[in-house]
Amino acid sequence: MVHTPIFQTVGIVGTGAMGRGIAQMAAQAGSKVLLFDLQAGAAQAAVDTLLGTWQTLANKGKISAEQQQAYGQRLLIADNMAALSPCHLVVEAIVERLDVKQKLFAELEAILDPMAVLATNTSSLSVTAIGAALKRPGQLAGYHFFNPVALMRVVEVIAGLKTSAAVCQQLADYTRQFGHTPVTAQDTPGFIVNHAGRGYSTEALRVAGERVADFATIDRILKDQMGFRLGPFELMDLTALDVSHPVMESIYRQYFDEPRYRPSVITTQRLAGGVVGKKVGEGFYRYEQGAAQLPAEPATPQISEPPPVWVSPKAARRAELYQLLKNLGAQIETGSAPSASALILVAPLGLDVTTLAAVERLDATRTLGIDMMLDDSATKRRVLATNPATRSDMRDAAHALFARDGKAVSVIRDSGGFVTQRVVATIVNIAADMCQQGICTPKDLDLAVTLGLGYPLGPLAMGDRIGPTNVLEILFNLQTVYGDPRYRPSPWLRRRGALGLSLTHEET
Ligand SMILES: NC(=O)c1ccc[n+]([C@@H]2O[C@H](COP(=O)([O-])OP(=O)(O)OC[C@H]3O[C@@H](n4cnc5c(N)ncnc54)[C@H](O)[C@@H]3O)[C@@H](O)[C@H]2O)c1
Repeated sequence: MVHTPIFQTVGIVGTGAMGRGIAQMAAQAGSKVLLFDLQAGAAQAAVDTLLGTWQTLANKGKISAEQQQAYGQRLLIADNMAALSPCHLVVEAIVERLDVKQKLFAELEAILDPMAVLATNTSSLSVTAIGAALKRPGQLAGYHFFNPVALMRVVEVIAGLKTSAAVCQQLADYTRQFGHTPVTAQDTPGFIVNHAGRGYSTEALRVAGERVADFATIDRILKDQMGFRLGPFELMDLTALDVSHPVMESIYRQYFDEPRYRPSVITTQRLAGGVVGKKVGEGFYRYEQGAAQLPAEPATPQISEPPPVWVSPKAARRAELYQLLKNLGAQIETGSAPSASALILVAPLGLDVTTLAAVERLDATRTLGIDMMLDDSATKRRVLATNPATRSDMRDAAHALFARDGKAVSVIRDSGGFVTQRVVATIVNIAADMCQQGICTPKDLDLAVTLGLGYPLGPLAMGDRIGPTNVLEILFNLQTVYGDPRYRPSPWLRRRGALGLSLTHEET
């Protein structure tokens, strides 16, 4: 590195999984790094690990021999807290307990220069509460890294109620010096990434809880329709429910039982039963030698004579649906009402198939829904939904017809907004409300979520792609179907939808 590091000497307190990663970044930014841990030998173990990491990187040609040597020479072990006195920045990554962190920072404040910056890597505690007992709370900020630190290239800089803006700026600039992307957040439960991530799993759990589809089908739909890298159940298996369920509960409770974050009894029970995920060999999937045992896709039914198809005039993307049916070689009915033998298709946004069949006075036994929220060519899977009265021959005929060109088809049971619509609308709505609350800028929100959660698009960009008015329609209709305030649209979304503005639009 050719620059002068913003913090020339950096202290790391707590040299476990996170502390050692942060120490690596600080050394790579050019800082001298002092490592302190309460447990004897822990700081030395961290230094040994980091020297090994840089050796590996040098062997692979990712860093030069000079860099390897320089980084290593920057690491020093502090035998006691007093040895941290020359530090310009101290980052703590100790046990996640408010009283212990408060005590640590009070001790640090007594030995450091008054202008030194104090930073906490807490995931779930309030930065404001940690700083409340300090003489100079303005010098303390949240500095939230993700695991593994070197690979997760986003860091949340969190301003407590009294944190000085200059401290946040220094931390953000320093973050860029080691090549990570800083995002700035107000001190609120879950900060940005852990807050914005509430929608994906909780809504998928509701879909599963209504027995709309099994876990594997829900995962396949969200991956193939929206491009999520992992389905929500695969993700929960990887994180393990002993980690993710308490986070779901904690954020819900910290927001005083806000329905948008409501956890599920499914994960409560599975956690109690020890069925927590991949690491124990059994979660939503069973694992053999580390590989998930996926149920086979349901076979495509064989149909001799497919019925003609009639499409509701109220269907979403009706012209595209007609074109798709034409491409699939369907016999299309164009009359104002379906013939007695026709398969009837509806394409709702947010409503369930049952509601449309009833409102449009259609023969429910022959009615199925198709999710047309996204353009068919933009997805790798078609999703059809039955209603409780749908005849099995009509279900099979629809399945066979839409699978004619070889594209994957999932047939699910009735659901307001199928799977993708309701999960995506929930994610967009939570993100919109985070902007409404001023937790972060729209830009930082999308950046943090793409880098921290690996979503194919930031939630606001996702909402813009679908169209804010479509997302609003889905949410209003979900509220009608379920009567649940969970789906009430955020004012941020309502106003931008009503005015035809992008969800990233900020008021001047
Ligand atoms: N692990 C993660 O994925 C992750 C991600 C982001 C933030 N965090 C947060 O980072 C912090 C550390 O997490 P971790 O996973 O690295 O934990 P860890 O258990 O791997 O390491 C904690 C280290 O701190 C030391 N320690 C504990 N109390 C101390 C004290 N009073 N003074 C000095 N050293 C002390 C321990 O000996 C241990 O070496 C926690 O606040 C956690 O919430 C963790």
